[in-house]
Amino acid sequence: MNPEAILSQVYDPQTGHLSGGMTVRRHLSDLRNSFSNPAAVDEHLKQEDPLLYEVVAVEPGDADGDLHYGLGILYPGQIDGEYYLTKGHYHETREAAEVYIGLRGEGMMLLEDEQSGESRLEPLGAGKVVYVPGHTAHRTMNTGSEPLTYFGIYPADAGHDYGALAERNFHKVLIEENGNPVLRDRRIEEQP
Ligand code: F6R
Ligand code: MN
Repeated sequence: MNPEAILSQVYDPQTGHLSGGMTVRRHLSDLRNSFSNPAAVDEHLKQEDPLLYEVVAVEPGDADGDLHYGLGILYPGQIDGEYYLTKGHYHETREAAEVYIGLRGEGMMLLEDEQSGESRLEPLGAGKVVYVPGHTAHRTMNTGSEPLTYFGIYPADAGHDYGALAERNFHKVLIEENGNPVLRDRRIEEQP
């Protein structure tokens, strides 16, 4: 454990503010290939490049048994009917699990098992907790109209592997149809 680490922090479930961490911000331009319609992203980027989400991560130590945690804030919005989403990742240490605790808003987590390729959709929002087992790709989507804020707590040696999903993306897509979230198979468009 890092002796300098401050073990008690302050957070605000409404704003997603968390003291003492390192902040990463992702804009629409960072998520171009995460959405199923990159052309629609490009169209939107002609007007603006909105902030989609922020994560403040606290890493008190890196020894065996230590934990890291982060507070995510994912803003509401859509691109061509697909809800604003996080990039999504596997953990580099594949067996590392994670607990997500919803604080504010309405959303979903898309979980994809690496071996079977099977997908699961779990609600994440105020009053919801989701256990993400190891060997599972995970992505968060905001299906509501206010910011979605949540904690993620994971082993310090979990690491983040974005590479595999950056190439092939998740098998499923969460889109709004008639005002409701619907999980669809991803259509693989032919590249020109
Ligand atoms: C940490 C974790 C979350 C995500 C956050 C942003 O292991 O799962 O804190 O980092 O939801 O998503 P990504 O990292 O996929 O951009
Ligand atoms: Mn994770």
